[in-house]
Amino acid sequence: MLNRRITFARVPQGLPVPEDFSRDAVDTVRPAAGQFLSKTLWLSLDPYLRNVMKGHALYGVPLKPGDPMHGETVAQVVESLHPQFSVGDFVVAKNGWQQYAVSDGQGVRKVDPEVAPLSTALGVLGMPGLTGYAGLIYLGEPKPGETVLVSAATGPVGSTVGQVARLVGARAIGIAGSQAKCRYAVEELGFEACVNYRDGDLRALLKQACPAGVDVYFDNVGGDVLAAALGNLALHARVVLCGMIGAYSLDAPPPGPFLGPVVAARATIRGLVVYDHFHRLGEMRRVIGKWIRDGRFKYREDVTEGLENAPEAFCRLMRGENFGKALVRVAPGE
Ligand SMILES: NC(=O)c1ccc[n+]([C@@H]2O[C@H](COP(=O)([O-])OP(=O)(O)OC[C@H]3O[C@@H](n4cnc5c(N)ncnc54)[C@H](OP(=O)(O)O)[C@@H]3O)[C@@H](O)[C@H]2O)c1
Repeated sequence: MLNRRITFARVPQGLPVPEDFSRDAVDTVRPAAGQFLSKTLWLSLDPYLRNVMKGHALYGVPLKPGDPMHGETVAQVVESLHPQFSVGDFVVAKNGWQQYAVSDGQGVRKVDPEVAPLSTALGVLGMPGLTGYAGLIYLGEPKPGETVLVSAATGPVGSTVGQVARLVGARAIGIAGSQAKCRYAVEELGFEACVNYRDGDLRALLKQACPAGVDVYFDNVGGDVLAAALGNLALHARVVLCGMIGAYSLDAPPPGPFLGPVVAARATIRGLVVYDHFHRLGEMRRVIGKWIRDGRFKYREDVTEGLENAPEAFCRLMRGENFGKALVRVAPGE
């Protein structure tokens, strides 16, 4: 039995083109004891694959030219020497871009076609749905009445975010790339509004759509879209960095800090304004004061003599030439 496959041919330059893939057909591998063979029914195409094609390792192994492309699939077991999987079972498995694959069952889960159409196991009831649901509920922590903004609003992640937001009583606002997508977000998905980022100054458009600011921003795009959303945050907003599809096809990260590693590290970015913490001043002085007295804490001052030298001292500071806390001794002898 032949197994037709789409393989990785080369690293794309910018946006992927069909020539970055090859096709071949090989003999289908038969299952050994403890394995099963499944026939791919549905293949999920996910943005992260563009990064895999750049050489980012997936499951610890980078893709080599000639390898079948990675991908999550819904498949049906057609031959089984595995005690837990029987012929006819429907499974979600990482078969990749090929008609058949052998599996030992690791990371494979069964799906019941009676519960929902099989394809949904790769979308709304699968990994992307979970991304939107868990990311919004557990990282975004939306509250009733708050404004939740999400980019790539009509994709599987974004549409989940918007609808979960609405269902927990928040105001869902989308960002999408066409009028048709925006109409769909509002008319079908129940977003309160959706902004087309091709319609002009996105930051200003978001200000109109979110007059009280954005309480939760769920970012799927990065770059200019992220920047525009960050310009509209409400006090104590939460920003969930989920994906940066806008950068996946770029050879180099866009100018400015590249926030991709924040996603990989599951890091949290939070804003700080010291004035919110002034009630801790006494505590800080006690703790650090003691450390200084005990010789366990050092500090350094960069002292300029005379008020008349303050401007130049300030300019030195702004040129980065101070070394220590910049101070001006205004009264000699102090
Ligand atoms: N952190 C995680 O664990 C995790 C898991 C799953 C997915 N993700 C991320 O979530 C995001 C959405 O994924 P998805 O599966 O729901 O896919 P998706 O929304 O269908 O992704 C494709 C969409 O992204 C939008 N987009 C914006 N800028 C783009 C650009 N420069 N190039 C191409 N598309 C662009 C387009 O919609 P518009 O026309 O509306 O802009 C496009 O239709 C992706 O960034 C993905 O990597 C992260």
